[in-house]
Amino acid sequence: MKKHSILFVCLGNICRSPAAEGIMRHIVSEPGATGSWIIDSAGTSRYHIGDLPDHRMRLHARRRGIELTHRCRQVTESDFDDFDLIIGMDSANISNLRAIAPTPEAESKIHAMSEYFSPSARHDHVPDPYYEGAEGFELVLDLLDDACRNLYHSLTQS
Ligand code: 4NP
Repeated sequence: MKKHSILFVCLGNICRSPAAEGIMRHIVSEPGATGSWIIDSAGTSRYHIGDLPDHRMRLHARRRGIELTHRCRQVTESDFDDFDLIIGMDSANISNLRAIAPTPEAESKIHAMSEYFSPSARHDHVPDPYYEGAEGFELVLDLLDDACRNLYHSLTQS
């Protein structure tokens, strides 16, 4: 069985990346899904280490049947050994990841979530919902669902 390991990364690791982790876990556990998966998330900051995801993100995800139980952690250099793909939500996440990538090979594992958006997407990154209302959280979940499904297909059809 083909093995895949993916780390989703955002700033706080309490909104976007744990939601991406939860959505991707959901997709790979759907009937008919194939492959062996290691899926995790982390933040570039230390602000919320040990915390559950933001209560608003947990609420909006739960309405879609996805429980978010990740505990916040900071991304580390060793993540570049442990994961094949390290996916940042916006350009600041990508810059921060590049700054800690220990080797050019490690740096080549970094990708932007927007690379997996459908062509019809009207965004070029996953916007930080932390200071937004309900629409911001719903938008993030819509963007992540689209990107995670495309990511799943790109990895399982190659
Ligand atoms: P995230 O959102 O990067 O999607 O987890 C944020 C969460 C917390 C903060 C910023 C963004 N913060 O400044 O505490």
